[in-house]
Amino acid sequence: MADKLIIFDTTLRDGEQSPGASMTRDEKLRIARQLERLRVDVIEAGFAASSNGDFEAVQAIANAIKDSTICSLSRANDRDISRAAEALKGANNGRIHTFIATSPLHMEKKLRMTPDQVLEQAKQSVRFARNLVADVEFSPEDGYRSDMDFLCQVLEVVIAEGATTINVPDTVGYAVPELYGQFIKTLRERIPNSDKAIWSVHCHNDLGMAVANSLAGVKLGGARQVECTINGLGERAGNCSLEEIVMAVKTRKDYFGLEMNIDPIHIVAASRMVSQTTGFVVQPNKAVVGANAFAHASGIHQDGVLKARDTYEIMRAEDVGWSANKIVLGKLSGRNAFKQRMQELGVVLESESELNAAFARFKELADRKSEIFDEDILALVSEESVTQDKEQYAFVSLAQHSETGEKPQATIVFTVDGKEVQGKSDGNGPVDASLKAIESIVESGAEMVLYSVNAISGSTESQGEVTVRLQNSGRVVNGVGADPDIIVASAKAYLSALNKLQSKADRVAAQG
Ligand code: KIV
Ligand code: ZN
Repeated sequence: MADKLIIFDTTLRDGEQSPGASMTRDEKLRIARQLERLRVDVIEAGFAASSNGDFEAVQAIANAIKDSTICSLSRANDRDISRAAEALKGANNGRIHTFIATSPLHMEKKLRMTPDQVLEQAKQSVRFARNLVADVEFSPEDGYRSDMDFLCQVLEVVIAEGATTINVPDTVGYAVPELYGQFIKTLRERIPNSDKAIWSVHCHNDLGMAVANSLAGVKLGGARQVECTINGLGERAGNCSLEEIVMAVKTRKDYFGLEMNIDPIHIVAASRMVSQTTGFVVQPNKAVVGANAFAHASGIHQDGVLKARDTYEIMRAEDVGWSANKIVLGKLSGRNAFKQRMQELGVVLESESELNAAFARFKELADRKSEIFDEDILALVSEESVTQDKEQYAFVSLAQHSETGEKPQATIVFTVDGKEVQGKSDGNGPVDASLKAIESIVESGAEMVLYSVNAISGSTESQGEVTVRLQNSGRVVNGVGADPDIIVASAKAYLSALNKLQSKADRVAAQG
């Protein structure tokens, strides 16, 4: 049998830990369906004990997704582990991923525990988890900065207790490829029962080497699971990016010699879905999923590609799903065509009333925009799922006036808990005036830390997608809004961010 590389996606857990990237249960479920379509082997759906919202998301994903293994993170204590097992009850294949820090710095300063206490807790936790599920992963947090002798001791013990996967995190992105690869190799060579577990790599991207380090862990170290996220989403500089790992292993099969279950045709749709849901825009020159990844601008390159594609192309854009960027629906499309395309995109609306509301929005959009792309539909349902959640603020209408030499004015109507209110303001520009008009009513006092506009499908006819990042009392949230009118899109994004700021979902930080 060919040597297989397991792809473990943690977009919904480690990716979501990125400030502002938090997702609702329905958004997570939609992304999980796309990951299943991509044939990801393991989906880390969340950290069940961190909040009720996370518990419900893990539970919903465990009940709905049947092909991929569903995993919940859990700290190394009985309460967290029980909560993870409870959330995973409905899964065909459930995995508990338990972790505790093993580096001297983390043990002393963060956990305030001795190495012996950490060793004992790791052992008891894996034993406890194995009594609940058959598939248990153990991670020594900050593993790469841990003492080799101590790490060997801990990992030998947890394998003896039945851990089926051993994941070695480079939690702070400090590793370099050769040393990380060698680190995994040494662990596997020195631990007597290392062959009883699958070895996994988990690299952060602080020095831009997460993908290179992960590949070295696979090639030099012999790891057979890679932990990664769509678009490399994650705290700080992010995690190892799924699309890059998958396409590197596939394109250089001559070198890696590994098989994967992944169906790469769904990569671009997954990338767009994650970007639209979280408001984390993909940089144009990002490998595989960036808008320019397959664009040949220079004359020499264009000429070469026209004569023979492989002069400048090592992968085919269609193979990762770029050709799926087509006009799919228009003004005359009916409810059934809309419903079918949503299903193809992996969007499942729970009730007829949700479908009707989304279809009404689609018709409204089709009246203003002749060509509707997949991205438009995804943006529309992202908004729909937000409004379904009975949010505090909802956009109604906007009027604004701007003229050269005059101060722009805006009047906005929106609802607060279902009741219409009107705000007016002037501003430096029409967007500024519109957002100040909202603030004249809400008075959130939130600080805007990011504002970005993106054309959803590339031309001036496309919808503008706006991301607004707000910070207030230590919380950071992203709001996303889409509309052919970018000022309306900005107002929607601002209201969506305010709604997220209102939500009380405080959670325990995984690395806290
Ligand atoms: O980066 C890290 O150490 C983690 C662990 C919790 C696995 O995400
Ligand atoms: Zn991590």
